[in-house]
Amino acid sequence: MHLLAIETSCDETAAAVLRGDGSILSNIVLSQDEIHAPYGGVVPELASRQHIKSIGFIVHDSLAGAGVALDDIDHFAVTQGPGLIGSLLVGLSFAKGLAYYHKKPLLGIDHVQAHIEAAFLEHRDIAFPVLALIVSGGHTSLYFLKKTLSFELLGRTRDDAAGEALDKIAKFLELGYPGGPVIQKLAEPGDPGRFEFSLPRMSDRSLDFSFSGLKTAALRIIRENRIDKSHPRLPDFLASFEAAVVRALLDNLFRASSRCDPASVLLCGGVARNKRLRMDFERQARRFGLAAYIPSPKLCTDNAAMVGALALARIEHDKKGRKKTALSLDLDAYPRMPV
Ligand code: KG4
Ligand code: ZN
Repeated sequence: MHLLAIETSCDETAAAVLRGDGSILSNIVLSQDEIHAPYGGVVPELASRQHIKSIGFIVHDSLAGAGVALDDIDHFAVTQGPGLIGSLLVGLSFAKGLAYYHKKPLLGIDHVQAHIEAAFLEHRDIAFPVLALIVSGGHTSLYFLKKTLSFELLGRTRDDAAGEALDKIAKFLELGYPGGPVIQKLAEPGDPGRFEFSLPRMSDRSLDFSFSGLKTAALRIIRENRIDKSHPRLPDFLASFEAAVVRALLDNLFRASSRCDPASVLLCGGVARNKRLRMDFERQARRFGLAAYIPSPKLCTDNAAMVGALALARIEHDKKGRKKTALSLDLDAYPRMPV
């Protein structure tokens, strides 16, 4: 069995071919970073126009890379949401056209849940229950999974996503886009204890995140210390800010873990590429005696293999329940996370 997955929820045009056993035959990602870099963030109109130009080539490359023809594809899967509506519609329409023409089932996939499922592509033996932290440019959420596919949302950001906060501070200091990797690089020689950031406290027992306070505190420090991109204390400032974002993420994750007692913890999404976050996550998981998993960097940032992974899990689940996976041509894109 072969599955073709398509992902166009934000600014990456991606397609992947997976075999029914979860092996990845191809995983092609075309980033639009260069197009959006002059604006310091994703311009939705430019993103959807670029997807239209690229999607045909990317799907072609993913099939060629896998050594299979469209006729060999048994299932199609596509990101349905959340994301930029214009971008989502490009992938969704393209996938509907392919599925309709080839008379094969089409699955609409949730982007955030797909980020989590990416971890299972490389680690088949992750023990449930699972607590997953997904951190990207658009999302920062905590999910609890008692068993496969049972995604229970425990907390989400009330304002900015963690990656968005990093991107915005990098934009303000004119360091480049995307901000996360630039900050990681410039922060490396810095002292993370040099500038103090107090972490936001939620008034209730909520497991929600908030990054707007940290962002305001960062802007205040920049102003008071006249920090700019050539300031000698820039690495210290960036290291302190990056460390504060990491602390905010992990404090909440391990607070949740003491409540729901998981067997494993997962870290996923684009920001999971961050070295400080990866190291601290693994160290703290060891301290709590939890099995910890992070997808390899290529599967952390937006890609279509993760969309395929979730689709395969759903097909398997349907098969067990003797349910036929359908060709759903009425699938509609959704821009926000369903509540
Ligand atoms: O998952 P992703 O590719 O797209 C979304 O769904 O948002 O994540 C992109 C985000 C951006 O905010 C980017 O700055 C951040 O991931 N990112 C990083 C690193 N690499 C990418 N943040 C911190 N450190 C990194 N090494
Ligand atoms: Zn993403």
